[in-house]
Amino acid sequence: MDAFKPHLADLPDYPYAKADARTKLDQNESPEDLPPELKRLVLDRLAALPWNRYPELHAGEVRAALARHEAWPEAGVVVAPGSNFLILALAQAARQVLDTAPAFPYYRGAAVAAATPYRAVPLGPGFNLPLQALLAALDGPPGVLFLPVPHAPTGALFTPGDVARLAERARATGWLLVIDEAYHAFAGTDARPLARENPSVAVLRTFSKAWSLGGIRTGYLLGSPRVAAVVQALLPPFCIPAHTGVIVQAALERPGYVAALVERIRSERARLAAGLAAAQPRWTVHPSAANYLLVRTPDARAAYQHLLSRGLLVRRQDHYAGLEGCIRISVGTVAENDALLAAASEAP
Ligand SMILES: Cc1ncc(COP(=O)(O)O)c(C=O)c1O
Repeated sequence: MDAFKPHLADLPDYPYAKADARTKLDQNESPEDLPPELKRLVLDRLAALPWNRYPELHAGEVRAALARHEAWPEAGVVVAPGSNFLILALAQAARQVLDTAPAFPYYRGAAVAAATPYRAVPLGPGFNLPLQALLAALDGPPGVLFLPVPHAPTGALFTPGDVARLAERARATGWLLVIDEAYHAFAGTDARPLARENPSVAVLRTFSKAWSLGGIRTGYLLGSPRVAAVVQALLPPFCIPAHTGVIVQAALERPGYVAALVERIRSERARLAAGLAAAQPRWTVHPSAANYLLVRTPDARAAYQHLLSRGLLVRRQDHYAGLEGCIRISVGTVAENDALLAAASEAP
């Protein structure tokens, strides 16, 4: 069969393997479901919705609600079934894709799927931003630079001054800097001011983490009208299901639960980091501004298997260059984190 483009013959698999465990700390989800009263409101609205009708072409009502919530011009808002779709659209649009190594794996996955040239600049020591190397790369032929802030999978937070320098260089050289803010709520950072004054910056956000809506699959882009128009055109028509729109709009009407959850996660993140350092001196916990901790162990496979044997599922990260021995642990509920600490103290 010769119907497909040759580059699709060896696409990388997204590095995720499901495993059954009592406690799931492997996908940086919210450990809490939507507040029950909000879920009930959604269910009532879903019952009243005509399911035989198509949703809006480009999720107009959701985009309008997001524009109000984010104080962003509606023409610069694009909604997709998860920010992964926006990453794919941006990779399709890009002349080339640049990111850091390691970085969230789908930047590369999307570039490969789109047959877009891809290159990564290694992070500096201590997972620092490789500012000079990135600035040098931005002097080359333009493309799209994906930068997760806070960084995934390390949890590192780059200084606003360094990110601003990348943005300035992007503006000068024709690049688009995409700041992926999947975890910004846990860091208290906000790239919108930078993107507001520089059309060479776009922001990605998601409902999958701090909004407790990982199962709903909704992400969005805040960018210039020109960037938004291209990304929108690359998404299929009618791609936000009607029920997704109802859920997201209800959450946007009553967003108070997000700040309360973020507060709990931040306090548990500090407790978990300190507890792990005390419980298991052979592990090194890297400082994290996100809802997960990157932990270097003597042997990632052994640490993973040990935790799994105690009913705790975490994510191995040792397939990344520079992350030898590393596992990533999502911050869970108090009880889940207690179980993790107890198991860690007995790790081989
Ligand atoms: C940095 C980063 N960007 C994007 C995503 C994908 O988000 P979504 O669930 O909106 O597709 C993730 C998911 O884990 C992520 O870690």
